[in-house]
Amino acid sequence: MEKISEKITSCLEEAFEKAGYDKALAKVTVSNRPDLCEYQCNGAMAGAKKYKKAPFMIADDVVEQLKYQPMFEKAESVKPGFINLTLSPSFVSEYVAQMAEDEKLGAQMEAEPKKIMIDYGGPNVAKPLHVGHLRSAIIGESIKRIQRFVGNDVTGDIHLGDWGYQMGLIITELKKRQPDLVYFDENYKGEYPTEAPFTIGELEEIYPTASAYAKEHEEYREEALHATYLLQNGYPGYRAIWKHIMAVSVADLKKNYAKLHVEFDLWKGEADAQAYIPGMVERLKEEGYAHLDDGALVVDVKEETDTKEIPPCMILKSDGAALYDTTDLATLVEREEKYDPDEVIYVVDKRQELHFVQVFRCAKKTGIVKPEVDLKFLGFGTMNGKDGKPFKTREGGVMRLENLIREIEEEMYKKIQENRTVSEEEAKKIAETVGLAAIKYGDLSNQASKDYVFDVDRFTSFEGNTGPYILYTIVRIKSILAKYKETNGDLTDLKLLDPISKIEKDLMLEVGKFNEMIQNVSQENAPHKICAYIYDLANTFNRFYHETKILSEEEEARKKSYLALLDVTRRVLECCIDLLGFEAPERM
Ligand code: ARG
Repeated sequence: MEKISEKITSCLEEAFEKAGYDKALAKVTVSNRPDLCEYQCNGAMAGAKKYKKAPFMIADDVVEQLKYQPMFEKAESVKPGFINLTLSPSFVSEYVAQMAEDEKLGAQMEAEPKKIMIDYGGPNVAKPLHVGHLRSAIIGESIKRIQRFVGNDVTGDIHLGDWGYQMGLIITELKKRQPDLVYFDENYKGEYPTEAPFTIGELEEIYPTASAYAKEHEEYREEALHATYLLQNGYPGYRAIWKHIMAVSVADLKKNYAKLHVEFDLWKGEADAQAYIPGMVERLKEEGYAHLDDGALVVDVKEETDTKEIPPCMILKSDGAALYDTTDLATLVEREEKYDPDEVIYVVDKRQELHFVQVFRCAKKTGIVKPEVDLKFLGFGTMNGKDGKPFKTREGGVMRLENLIREIEEEMYKKIQENRTVSEEEAKKIAETVGLAAIKYGDLSNQASKDYVFDVDRFTSFEGNTGPYILYTIVRIKSILAKYKETNGDLTDLKLLDPISKIEKDLMLEVGKFNEMIQNVSQENAPHKICAYIYDLANTFNRFYHETKILSEEEEARKKSYLALLDVTRRVLECCIDLLGFEAPERM
C-alpha cells in the first residue's frame, strides 16, 4: 500500500502544478506541531526564491486548489508559508480499513528483494555465554525478522567462535586430568568413542579453570598453544576431542538461544572457514596483494582520505598461523561461493569496528567479494550496570546470560504474583514471556550503537517505555475482544466507521503510520524506531480506552467499529513485537 504521506504528496503535487508551481516542492511530512495539524508541507517556503514571491502567497495559491479535495478536512496556509493539513475522517478510516484487509497490514515490500546474510550471535564455543553476546543475538534477530518481513531473502548465521586457543586449553586440561584417554595415545589407530568424555556441566568448569591456570603458568600455556596448533593441523585425537566439545556445546547453545527466541538458519563457525584459507592466501600472494612485513603476511588497506592510521590487514603471523582477520576474510570467500549474497550485515560489538574496516577494505580491494556487495558493520554499544560500568554480577564477576535471564524472570514473577491470582504454574509461564519482553525491549529501545544501562527495576515495570507496558496494552485489547466474543460470538463482521471523536481519529492516524515506520526501520536497520512507534501507539490506545465507552457503547455499528479499530491496533502491535523478537501472553 502507498504510505499516507505518499498519498498526500501526490495530491499536493497536483495542486502545486495546477497553481503553476513545480510539483517537486510538494513533499509532505508528518506534522511536528500535532496541536495544529496532522501533516504539513513546507514547499512554499522552499519555492519562494525560485518564484520571487512571498512564501505565504505560494501557500495560498496551493491551498486554493485543495478546497474541494475530499482527502482533507482542512488545508490552510499559515504565515510565513506553511501548508497545514488535517485529513478528513473518511480518508483516515478508509486507509485503516484497507490496512486491515492486508495480511501484512499494508506494509510496502522491497521492490527488488535482496539476498542478505546476517552474521550475529558470535558466541565462543565452550566459553559460557555472557551478557555481551546477548546484544548481538537480540539486535541481529530483530534485524533478520525486519528484513524478512519486507520481502528480502535473509539468512542468519551464528558464526561460532569455535577455532581458537580455548580449544587448546580444554584439550590440555583434559590431558592433565585423564592422561589415559585414547585421544592422547599417539599410537592409537582405531575409532574414537562416540560418547564425549565430559558433560556440559564439566566443560563449563574445565574452560575457566584451564584459562586461569594458563595465565599463571607459562609451561601450561605453551602446551595449550601447541595443542591448538596440533588441532588446527589435523591431529586426529585432538580433532576427535574438538568434535565432542562442539557437539556438547552446540546442543547447549541451541537450548539457550531457543529460550531467547533467537533462531539461526546456519550454525557455521570459524572452523568452517579454515578450508578456504590456503587457496585464498595463495591467490593474495600470486596477485600481488599481500606482502611480507616483519615476517608477517599483510595486505595494505590504507586509503588517501583516511584521517587516522588504518593498519594493514593481517593475513598470516610470522609463524604461519591464521588470525581473526584471516578467518573473517575466508568466511567471506565461503559466503561468496556458497550463498552469493547482495549484502552482509555484521552485528558485533562496536569496539571491533577497526577489524571490520580492515576486513571490508581488504575483501573489496582483493576481489574476495564483488564490488557491488554491500558489507555493513552494525556496531552495538556496551550494556552497563547502574554504576555506568560494564554489567557485572553482585560479586563483581562477568554476568552469565542465564543468570541475568533468571533474575529478570524472578522479578517478573514477583510482580505477577502481586497483581493477580493465577496459578503458580501459569504465573511462571507468564513471567518467562514477559521477562523476555522486558530484556529485549530494554535493549532494543535504545539506538543500537549507544551504550545503555541495564536497569532491572525499570525494564520490568508495567509503566513507562517498557516491554511489559506494551504487552499489558496488547493483553488489555485482547481481553476486550475476548469479552465481546463471549457475549456476541462474532468478530468477523466488524466494520470501521469514520471516527467521531478526536481520540478515535488520533488512534487511526497512529495505526496508519505503520507503513511509514516499517520502511524507515528496514532502510536504517533501526529496531529502536519500532519501539518508539509502539510506545506512541500504546499510549494513544490507552488514552482512547480511558476516554471511550467501548463495550457499553449503545449503538451497535459504532461498537463494532471500535472493536474493528481495537483489532487492527492489536495486529499492528503484535506484528511489531514479533519483529522485535518477543510475543504477548493471553493474559497477565
Ligand atoms: N566470537 C566473536 C567474539 O566473541 C564475535 C564474532 C563476530 N563475527 C565475526 N564475523 N567476526 O568476539
